[in-house]
Amino acid sequence: MNRIGIIGYGSMGKMLLTKISESGKVENDGLFISNRTISKIEEAPGRYTVYSSNAELARASDIIFICTRPRDILSVLQEISDVVREDTLIISLNGSITFDSLEKVKVLKYAKVIPSVTAEINRSQTLVTYNRLADDQDKETLKTLLTCIGNVIELPENEMGMGSELVSCMPGFIASMFDVICKSAKPHTSIPEEQIISMVLNTLCSTGELMLQKDMSFEDVVSRVATKGGITEVGSRVIYDGFPDTADEMFEKTLAKRRETASIG
Ligand SMILES: NC(=O)c1ccc[n+]([C@@H]2O[C@H](COP(=O)([O-])OP(=O)(O)OC[C@H]3O[C@@H](n4cnc5c(N)ncnc54)[C@H](OP(=O)(O)O)[C@@H]3O)[C@@H](O)[C@H]2O)c1
Repeated sequence: MNRIGIIGYGSMGKMLLTKISESGKVENDGLFISNRTISKIEEAPGRYTVYSSNAELARASDIIFICTRPRDILSVLQEISDVVREDTLIISLNGSITFDSLEKVKVLKYAKVIPSVTAEINRSQTLVTYNRLADDQDKETLKTLLTCIGNVIELPENEMGMGSELVSCMPGFIASMFDVICKSAKPHTSIPEEQIISMVLNTLCSTGELMLQKDMSFEDVVSRVATKGGITEVGSRVIYDGFPDTADEMFEKTLAKRRETASIG
């Protein structure tokens, strides 16, 4: 199996290191980690090797995940670009920085990988895109590796922005929407807040499972529950009338913000 290097031991780097290590897909002596603040790396003797230099880690790795914030990605790439081999696959965890920007530092095999927070329970919808130098073997290897955190979805580079809104940002959007709904329910009932949240959350999860298991569309669910002239139909109509403008504004703003981030490169 390939030797995997992870640069950046923050939220994403730590999650990938833990999941890849737990999956057993990589031998313990083939998993490497480095971080700017080296003292933050929790020691786990025998499970992986800690490098104090990104370049040394890169020299030893076949696949390198750069798990730093966007502003640090290009400087990390500059540090390692002279020592990586031509067949090394370099992976950015940021969807906005373009392959063109990365290739300006050095033309190499690149991929971009966007996991979602649901990777924590091995149910990520992980997005992947590749530059033209990455071959079928690279794609197969990375896909096999990433199945340890859930499903893998390959998209063209120009769809990674909107794709990220739909899977990586979506847990935050879903949480915001249902936070609003639970808060709006509160003044109308004496049911305690915790119970409101639990009732809505469990219904949310089971509705999703129902749709996936029975191959139902959103409209199918609405028409199953909202009988003509009934209570659900009244509530559902309010959402269909009022929410589209909010959803449009949300995507317009998030995509504009994404374009700003891309220009960092
Ligand atoms: N968080 C998410 O849910 C999520 C989801 C999908 C994609 N992403 C993307 O994943 C990337 C990482 O995000 P994150 O949330 O994991 O960030 P984070 O928690 O801030 O972690 C970034 C890590 O990079 C380290 N670092 C910075 N410069 C470095 C350098 N020159 N050499 C080695 N390590 C360096 C930092 O070290 P220090 O300890 O010194 O600060 C920190 O540990 C971002 O591009 C983000 O867009 C995040």
